[in-house]
Amino acid sequence: MDSILVHGGAPLSGQIPIAGAKNACLALMPATLLSEEPLTLTNAPRLSDIATMSLLLESLGVEVQAMAGGRVLAMSSHGLASTRADYDIVRKMRASNLVLGPLLAREHTAVVSLPGGCAIGARPMDIHIEALTAMGAEIELRDGYLHAVAKGGLKGARVPLRFASVGATENTLMAATLAKGTTVIENAAREPEIVDLARCLRRMGAQIEGEGTSTVTIEGVDRLSGATHPVVTDRIELGTYMLAPVIAGGEVECLGGRLDLVAAFVDKLHEAGVEVEETASSLIVRRNGDRPRAVDVVTAPFPGFPTDLQAQMMAMLSTADGESRLEERIFENRFMHAPELVRMGARIEVHGGTAHVTGVDRLRGAPVMATDLRASVSLILAGLAAEGETLVNRVYHLDRGYEELEKKLSAVGARVERVRAE
Ligand code: UD1
Repeated sequence: MDSILVHGGAPLSGQIPIAGAKNACLALMPATLLSEEPLTLTNAPRLSDIATMSLLLESLGVEVQAMAGGRVLAMSSHGLASTRADYDIVRKMRASNLVLGPLLAREHTAVVSLPGGCAIGARPMDIHIEALTAMGAEIELRDGYLHAVAKGGLKGARVPLRFASVGATENTLMAATLAKGTTVIENAAREPEIVDLARCLRRMGAQIEGEGTSTVTIEGVDRLSGATHPVVTDRIELGTYMLAPVIAGGEVECLGGRLDLVAAFVDKLHEAGVEVEETASSLIVRRNGDRPRAVDVVTAPFPGFPTDLQAQMMAMLSTADGESRLEERIFENRFMHAPELVRMGARIEVHGGTAHVTGVDRLRGAPVMATDLRASVSLILAGLAAEGETLVNRVYHLDRGYEELEKKLSAVGARVERVRAE
């Protein structure tokens, strides 16, 4: 398995292009199941999670063509061969469950494996099931699979979500586009990836109002058409690279960055004494003074501070001046990076869902183990500020969510290289 070797201490300077959002693309791709006509996504990120979703769609009979080196995905679902999402694919990636809503809407039946355990908590699907059941689906769990049927098709309904789950909102939104009548999703998630999905569905002819707010109203239509849609910028990749100069020193311009995608995160950077400048097409980040200041962070659904930036923020706060408190409210068990950061000299104490971080002057390089996607990148960020070498093992997690990470960081002066497994 490949590793990434980071030699710390080099201040950064230059530009990093930010890719299309993994999480938006993973929701947009299953939308192709809703129409017999082609759906083309531009600005797609080149990631292994996207390849996994392509495999899943292909297993259902969708033709997926990656063009322009993977930047453009042309998909066609004119004839579906299957309505079953197998455990073998679903266990690799929870977002596979996003085929459930579209399959039910178009084929009135779907068999989707439950994702099973996951490194960052139990992550059940009860909210998805409740929502689709409210729309007339009958869903049973047998042999680890959800067997879902909507006799006569899905019906529009009032769908109050117990928690503003991103995936449940996306599944319900897609399902409702072809349901009979009006669906109102209450307590809907408001993430930019949901807004992007709604925009794409609207290009396909869906009637949707209120995306980006807690109440989304969908008027079902008989059929959807094809469309071409550009994937929104990846706010998590953006936030990750914005932290690089804060940790390593220097200045980095993140191309394609927009303040509205990362407002809560930028508020915290300001509080830490970091300067962020917005231009027409980028965000420029520079660190004022020697060390950022400690800040307290609580993760929350959008527009709150994203859980997917919590690990990276912890890496940054490990070197900040003072004591920070990080509270994880979305996932249980999402502090696996903490003991690895401690091996690099960080001072972190975890009590339940709260981590107390006392900033240190300097981290020290060490061999560390990545346990999930965002944890891996937090260790690389920490390595940028550490004395000596940091070897991050098990980087397949990274390839799920960061395209050409070592290239992008090297281009701004970081000393980061991939060590290929024999
Ligand atoms: C999406 C993102 C993920 C991000 C998360 C929260 C994708 C592909 N992934 O994941 O990167 O970290 O949003 O911003 O977009 N829950 C239930 N029952 C359910 C569904 C969820 O209890 O039926 C719980 C989960 O266990 C978790 C919380 O709700 O604790 C958030 O989950 P959710 O918002 O659904 O996240 P995902 O869509 O899985």
